[in-house]
Amino acid sequence: MGAIIAQSQIPYFDPQFWTRHIVLKDQTRVFIRPIASDDESLFREFLDHITPEDLRKRFFGPVKEFSPAFVSALVDIDYSTAFAALALDEINGLILGGVRLMLSEDQQAGEYAIMLRSDFKGRGLGWQLMRLIIDYAKDKGLKRIEGRVLAQNYPMLEICAELGFGIKLDPQDPGIRLGCLELRQLGLERKNFFGVRHISFQNRSVVV
Ligand SMILES: CC(C)(COP(=O)(O)OP(=O)(O)OC[C@H]1O[C@@H](n2cnc3c(N)ncnc32)[C@H](O)[C@@H]1OP(=O)(O)O)[C@@H](O)C(=O)NCCC(=O)NCCS
Repeated sequence: MGAIIAQSQIPYFDPQFWTRHIVLKDQTRVFIRPIASDDESLFREFLDHITPEDLRKRFFGPVKEFSPAFVSALVDIDYSTAFAALALDEINGLILGGVRLMLSEDQQAGEYAIMLRSDFKGRGLGWQLMRLIIDYAKDKGLKRIEGRVLAQNYPMLEICAELGFGIKLDPQDPGIRLGCLELRQLGLERKNFFGVRHISFQNRSVVV
C-alpha cells in the first residue's frame, strides 16, 4: 500500500505527449520532441549554425566555444525540474531550434530560453515553440512563465507581447527587459496548442 502511494507521488513525464508534427507557413515540416541525453552531437551541429549575435541574445554575452560538459548539460535534462524540446527538420533530421523551461524550486514558475538556427528565423517556428512551453507550463500547473530578454531583441519582445507577456524594465540592468506571463489569467485547461489532446502512437500523432 505504502509503495503504491509513493509511486503515485513520482512526477510523471510522458515524452510522447510532448511530440508534435507541425507544418510552417512556408510548408516546412517540423517534428518537435523533448530533448534527450543522446542528442549531444546533433545539438553541437545546431550550435555551429548560430551566429555570434544570436548566441549573445540567448546567453547574454559573447560565447567563444562550447565545452563538452556545457553541451552535455544542455541536452541532459532532469524533467522533474525542467522541460526542453527540439524542433527538427523532418527531411534531414537536423535541429532547427530549441526551447527550454527551467522550473523554480517551488514549481510555481518557469524561466524560458529559446534559440533558433540563425538561417531559420522569421518563419514562425519561434512562435510555435513559445506556444509549446506555454502549453507545457499550463499542463504542469505553473502560475507564470518568466524570461529575460535583451532590450534590443525586438523579435523576441514582439512575440512575448503578442503572447500576452507583461514586459518591464529590469531594475538591476537597463539593457534587459523582464517578461512575465501570468497563466492563471489564461485558465488551466489541459489542452495542447492545437486545442486538443494529442497522443503519439507508433510514430503517428493521434488526436484524442
Ligand atoms: C527570438 C526568436 C526565438 C524568434 O523566433 P522566430 O522564429 O524568428 O520568430 P517567428 O517567426 O516565430 O515570429 C516572428 C514574427 O511572427 C509573429 N508571429 C509568428 N507566428 C505568429 C502567429 N501564429 N500569430 C501571430 N503572430 C505570429 C511574431 O510576433 C513576429 O512578428 P513579425 O514577423 O510580423 O515581425 C529567434 O529569432 C531567435 O532564435 N533569436 C536568437 C536567440 C534569441 O534571441 N533568443 C531569445 C532569448 S530571450
